[in-house]
Amino acid sequence: MKFVIINGPNLNMLGVREPDKYGNESYEDLLNKIQQHCKKVGVCPEFYHSNHEGDLVDRIQKAYYDKADAIVINPGAYTHTSIALLDAVKSVGIPTAEVHISNVKERESFRQVSYIREACCFTVMGHGTLGYLEAIDYLVDKVGETK
Ligand code: DQA
Repeated sequence: MKFVIINGPNLNMLGVREPDKYGNESYEDLLNKIQQHCKKVGVCPEFYHSNHEGDLVDRIQKAYYDKADAIVINPGAYTHTSIALLDAVKSVGIPTAEVHISNVKERESFRQVSYIREACCFTVMGHGTLGYLEAIDYLVDKVGETK
């Protein structure tokens, strides 16, 4: 199973940015953790990070042409602003999980909107970086049912 793991703006700053909200692990640590988990559950992960909205749209579209089985995405702040990311996920029709490290529900009012959510089959928030692994497990089961 091929999964694309997409991280949006500022997630490359993990470990540096607001550790009280996002923890002390670096982006590199996160990738290693996901890589190890994927090995256990039989997933081949492809990682992508960008700070740019259009690049994230391009990567979601590429997942379609590459015949990826699933997408895990933490769109960062674009969660709360981007209809383009919503449309991209709808366009490709690939099972997609939305991940947030922090509990956005308990944060500022502008973080209460998620445009992408309606196109996602799973959302996890507030579980730290473990949320990525939970999303992968969910998608492994979901994709397994249809394969
Ligand atoms: C985030 C939450 C967003 O509101 C924020 O803009 C981020 C990270 C999270 O993982 O908790 O960049 O998606």
